[in-house]
This record gives sequence, C-alpha cells and structure tokens, in this order.
Amino acid sequence: MKFIVMINNKGGVGKTTSSVNLAACFAKLGKQCLLVDLDPSASASIHLGFDKSNQAHQTLCDFLLSSDRKLNDYIYPTVQQGLFCLPSEPALSDFYDEIQREEQVDFFLKRSLFSKKYSIVLFDSPPNMGNLALNALAIADYALVPVQTQYLALSGLDLTVKLLDKAKRHLNSSLETLGYFGTQFDRRTNVAKFVLNELQDRFGKKMFKTVIGVNSKLIEAYHAQKPINSYFPSARGAKEYGQLAEEILQRMK
Ligand SMILES: Nc1ncnc2c1ncn2[C@@H]1O[C@H](COP(=O)(O)OP(=O)(O)OP(=O)(O)O)[C@@H](O)[C@H]1O
Ligand SMILES: [Mg+2]
Repeated sequence: MKFIVMINNKGGVGKTTSSVNLAACFAKLGKQCLLVDLDPSASASIHLGFDKSNQAHQTLCDFLLSSDRKLNDYIYPTVQQGLFCLPSEPALSDFYDEIQREEQVDFFLKRSLFSKKYSIVLFDSPPNMGNLALNALAIADYALVPVQTQYLALSGLDLTVKLLDKAKRHLNSSLETLGYFGTQFDRRTNVAKFVLNELQDRFGKKMFKTVIGVNSKLIEAYHAQKPINSYFPSARGAKEYGQLAEEILQRMK
C-alpha cells in the first residue's frame, strides 16, 4: 500500500487533472486506487461526479465531524472500476483547522485509517500549503510534482522544492520525491521546449520521460465528470496519462 501526494503550490499546473486521470489509469492497470480530495474547491471530486452543489453525498468534512470516524463510510466507487473517491467540499477549509485546534492533534488523516484493500492512495492537494497539504506530506511515501511547461513555472517551482525538503526534515523523513513531470506542453512553442530542457537539466533522472501535452479532450472530460480513459480513451491525453502511470508504477518498485 503506497501513499502518494500530488503537490505544487502554484495554482493551475495540472494537479487535479493529473490526480484524477492517473488514479483512473492505475485502476485500469489493476491497482485498487483511492483518490482523496484534499482541496476544499473539490475539483477532483467534481471531476469524478461528486458535486456537493447538486448531490447529497457525504464528504471528508462529514468524516471529520463524525463521532465514530469510520473512513470507509465516506468512500464511493466511480465510473472506473477499481477507482474510489473520498470527496471534498468547500466547508472543509474551515472545519479541518477548527477540529485540529479543538482536539489538539497535529494531523487527522493517519495511514491506519485507510483500508488495506487499496494498493494506492493518491491525495490531490490544494495550491496553498495549509494543514491539509501538510497532513498528506506527513503520511505519504511519495510526492509527485506536475510542472506546467511555461516560463513562470520555473521560478515558482523553487518554493515547492523547498517545501518538500522542509517536509522531509521536519514531518516525514521517509517522504521521497518520486519525480517531476511536464504538463500542458505545447509542442508548437519554443518556450515549452526551453522549459522542458531546463527541467531535464535541473532534475535529471527525477524527471519523468512522459510529458502531458495540451489536450482539449482533458478539459471536456472534466466537464463530462469522467476520467479521460472513460470519456475518450483514444485521446492523446488518455494515452499520455496511461504511459505516465506505467512509468510511475515502474519507479515505485
Ligand atoms: N494537459 C492539459 N491540456 C489542456 N488543459 C489542461 C491540461 N491540464 C490541465 N488543464 C486545464 O488547466 C486548468 C488547471 O488544471 P488543474 O485544475 O488540473 O490544475 P491544478 O493544479 O489542480 O489547479 P489548482 O491549483 O487550482 O487546484 C483546468 O481548467 C484544466 O482543465
Ligand atoms: Mg486542483
């Protein structure tokens, strides 16, 4: 059982798109996978069809407020066989900090809460490094860092790298940065190629070979509330996320 956190404190780099689509690919490759949405904006939950604004399902927030704290009661199957979701909702941002203070605990989510039936638990994190993201870093085996292949992404990345170092020193000495991968790569632009080269120079073997290109089908899949491999399996984005999932599994061995 491996715990992975998708992390980058820059917004809009592809954390959620990558979390949902990689999780669906892991499931398709035969891994029982649980996607935990730690972002109060709930994008990953909505991507998988759990939109609190038009549905009455319970979320991670209800779990925190419950008295018996049985995590399994808040986990739902998805359209992809083998992929499960622990959804989020906006109220999560207030409640997490509040309950943490009230109960005087460092972190709520502990590895022992998760059923051993999952071989991968993947956390989608919010862009800010609040307590929810720190909780995931404290219990994860691996961090995965998506990097948007745009010029400004490089300077912003230092913050994430520093944060990961800090997490390793102070929170979780066994946390390993599994690797970095390029997202929203636009083959037609020189800037994207330049950024990718810089990333390869900087991170060497930690850089995954697979790069996720710009693909409008990924945006459509989000609106259809399905992972790309269910919505449009022949899309380029589906193939690339499938390839990246295989590379990740290989690296975790
Ligand atoms: N490869 C891609 N091709 C085209 N659009 C993409 C791609 N990856 C992500 N997007 C779009 O870019 C936007 C940002 O992506 P996403 O929500 O995954 O980023 P994020 O890092 O989770 O953002 P936040 O930090 O706000 O949570 C979304 O509208 C998404 O649909
Ligand atoms: Mg997101």
